[in-house]
Amino acid sequence: MAGTLTTPLCGRLGIAVPVIQAPIGSAATPELAAAVSAAGALGTLALTWVDAAEAVRQVRRVTELTDRPFAVNLVLDFDVEDVLTACLAEGVPVISTFWGAPEAVTARVHEAGALHVHTIGSVGEAVDAVRAGVDAVVAQGWEAGGHVRGQVTTMSLVPAVVDAVGPTPVIAAGGIADGRGLAAALMLGAQAGWLGTRFLTADEAASHPVYRDAVVRAAPEDSVHTRCFDGGWPNAPHRALRNTTLTAWEEAGSPARPDRPGEGAAIASDAQGRTHMRYDDMVPVEGMSGDLTALALYAGQSAGLVRDRASAAEIVATIADQATRALRG
Ligand SMILES: Cc1cc2nc3c(=O)[nH]c(=O)nc-3n(C[C@H](O)[C@H](O)[C@H](O)COP(=O)(O)O)c2cc1C
Repeated sequence: MAGTLTTPLCGRLGIAVPVIQAPIGSAATPELAAAVSAAGALGTLALTWVDAAEAVRQVRRVTELTDRPFAVNLVLDFDVEDVLTACLAEGVPVISTFWGAPEAVTARVHEAGALHVHTIGSVGEAVDAVRAGVDAVVAQGWEAGGHVRGQVTTMSLVPAVVDAVGPTPVIAAGGIADGRGLAAALMLGAQAGWLGTRFLTADEAASHPVYRDAVVRAAPEDSVHTRCFDGGWPNAPHRALRNTTLTAWEEAGSPARPDRPGEGAAIASDAQGRTHMRYDDMVPVEGMSGDLTALALYAGQSAGLVRDRASAAEIVATIADQATRALRG
């Protein structure tokens, strides 16, 4: 059934289903990216916060598990130079970038024979990215989970970006968690959907069980656009599920650091023995212990559509089947 969904971008990326598993920070694993890619969609590793050796380990693990194409995501607000060099040397076929100037890396990505996709939050940023030479833009709407670039919702942003940069392919991000959303994105002119929150409950993701439960229980309005969790990545608005940290901060009048409730308190530790502070840019992942539901529970409004945990292959197949039926209907 996936064949009826195929878009020109699928051909460029070498995928059968126009679904891209978004980078979901530390919850993304090589097993997740490989399973998504093996299912005919495009899996993504999020490698901004690892060193080059760890990046190579994760890339090689994906290629051990599948021979299908996959992507590596890098946030350009950080020093990702060594990791980019290592990924291109490993032959990563698709580099995705966010939050920075894509022209800083486009030429190198192309010289290495890879494709470059860049996430934008406005029409102006899309035009600039295409001028810089990117192969596709990810139009991220305001309802998206994790860090949110712009202020326009997916429904309005995607067609405006399609009109502005076509025929450059546009990928729709934010608010898509099932086949209805993918079908709608394709009808708006997008050539693929970019789904983050939906994959947080994939079996192969590293999301801690308390995080998965919070996503499954969430209503759309539980996803809050905020600047609360800024430790490690300041000045970057984001969407996270309401929790004790967010509520206490808002009730205190949303003070600036260092005057926030519980500021400076280590509330969790991970399997490597590192501690994590209350306002850190860190989601709960497997192996962590502590007050995990008080950490940043990044998720978009589409959390209200996620009701189960399932394998990545089941998620991709269900979305493709639903979208095909929706478009035929
Ligand atoms: C837990 C989490 C972590 C994220 N980390 C990244 C990241 O490292 N790099 C990036 O470009 N986008 C990141 N995002 C944003 C996604 O790429 C994507 O834009 C968003 O998830 C789409 O909206 P949705 O959550 O409604 O599917 C993250 C999103 C979530 C939910």
